[in-house]
Amino acid sequence: MKAYRRADPAVIVIFGAGGDLTWRKLVPALYNLYLDKWLAEKFAVIGVDAKPMTVGKFRARLREGVDQFSRRGRVEEKAWAAFASQISYFSGDFNGPAVFKAVAEKLAKLDAAWGVKANQIFYQATPPALIEDLAAQLGKARLARERTRARIVVEKPFGHDLESARALDRKLTAVFDEHQIYRIDHYLGKETVQNILAFRFANSLFEPIWNRRYIDHVQITVAETVGVEHRGGYYERAGALRDMVQNHLMQVLCLIAMEPPVSYQADEIRNKKVDVLRAVRPIPPDQVHALAVRGQYGPGGISCLPVLGYRQEKGVAQDSTTETFAAVKMFVDNWRWQDVPFYLRTGKRLPSRASEISIVFEPVPHQSFPRSMLEEWEPNRIVIRIQPEEGILVRFQAKHPGEAMRLKPVHMRFSYKDSFHVAAPEAYETLLLDVMLGDATQFMRADQLETAWGIIEPILEAWRSSEPVDLPMYEAGTWGPEVAGALIAQDGRRWLAPTLHDSGHAETGHVEGAGE
Ligand code: BG6
Repeated sequence: MKAYRRADPAVIVIFGAGGDLTWRKLVPALYNLYLDKWLAEKFAVIGVDAKPMTVGKFRARLREGVDQFSRRGRVEEKAWAAFASQISYFSGDFNGPAVFKAVAEKLAKLDAAWGVKANQIFYQATPPALIEDLAAQLGKARLARERTRARIVVEKPFGHDLESARALDRKLTAVFDEHQIYRIDHYLGKETVQNILAFRFANSLFEPIWNRRYIDHVQITVAETVGVEHRGGYYERAGALRDMVQNHLMQVLCLIAMEPPVSYQADEIRNKKVDVLRAVRPIPPDQVHALAVRGQYGPGGISCLPVLGYRQEKGVAQDSTTETFAAVKMFVDNWRWQDVPFYLRTGKRLPSRASEISIVFEPVPHQSFPRSMLEEWEPNRIVIRIQPEEGILVRFQAKHPGEAMRLKPVHMRFSYKDSFHVAAPEAYETLLLDVMLGDATQFMRADQLETAWGIIEPILEAWRSSEPVDLPMYEAGTWGPEVAGALIAQDGRRWLAPTLHDSGHAETGHVEGAGE
């Protein structure tokens, strides 16, 4: 895991530098790393894209992006000027060798001017279809051969099923060694996701009860209020299962379910995570309907404003059967988790934005209090709130003040904002620094990725082959289709509503019913 130190000299070459990711995420993140002095003094950014553009124009566009999207707000003139002076731009066709030759020459020049062999980070911010060619061209230009300092960063999607993911890996590993490949899942860079490891393994309080003896079930919810925005074309081919479950939700599942690592070495953590995925019970094709449900949003309202249905969005087919909501029940077949269900759900156009994990504990073995005292009884619960209002909440029973003995759920709450009074870095800041430090802990290894594809493959297959009329719909601004409620209700359980409103007040025991 990352040592607490500044990055070594590095050049970040961004392919697809004219696109949204560079503008909204990558350059604001690099600029903040620069301001926080995490970048080495010797650093440079090289943007590469097909569009001809002067470097002045390129820098001006990046500055606009930082002004709009940086957590610090608008740039400070002097600092930006110094940062921007390290940015250059090359235009060219990714299918031909010319632009790669120009990049190689620029890299050699920087090394000579700095008198060091800087790390060379090739960031794929292009559409996914270009990644294979990009890797091949980097190989031909001999840009991958320095095994310790050349690294490639790959954005998702990594394939669209197990077979294509394997094919992509074969292409990448024909050029780069596995340790040079950094597959980004930006959820792993989020502070609260990283904090799961600290919470579980730096405290002796929780680990003894973190198992099937005390835990009844686990819920992992990633709810979004946004629709597909301008990404209809991509989303049509992806859907919620590929876009969110196969990566972000399964990574969170790994962190919740993994065994304590022996050390914080990248491979030790990744081995423990892949062990979880290997233990996930395979879903037999004839059980898909009982273990996985999907839905698609129709027109509705979010925060009192009317919004379009998915099929009316730009780039989406009028008869699309792509799911914008998915819920899956999984089991991890090992000693710790045998028969404890993990319910995962995610959806777009849900009523509130909330990413949250609920660890729901077993009821007390013997209930000494009479029913009349237990009106609002609910089992103990630990809630890990990933976003927004990042924090952790423990819910338990307390006596309501008054003469009568009446029990009521209350909570203890840890809030990042209140405890630390510092702005957390953005996920991309953390992950970019990790790449520069050569720390792959928070990145996905090929075997993890392939195992995760293998788990959802039967669901993809079943959904692919079912009739479009079978696709359940939900109104935008509701908690998903009715079948989602039924998935968990068949086990006598129910989905738990996000615990915190944006104001920071906890909801008390409100529970979502089917299709609410
Ligand atoms: C991306 C998905 O990986 O994550 C998007 O492709 C989704 O569809 C996004 O909106 C959610 O990320 P965050 O950080 O906003 O929770």
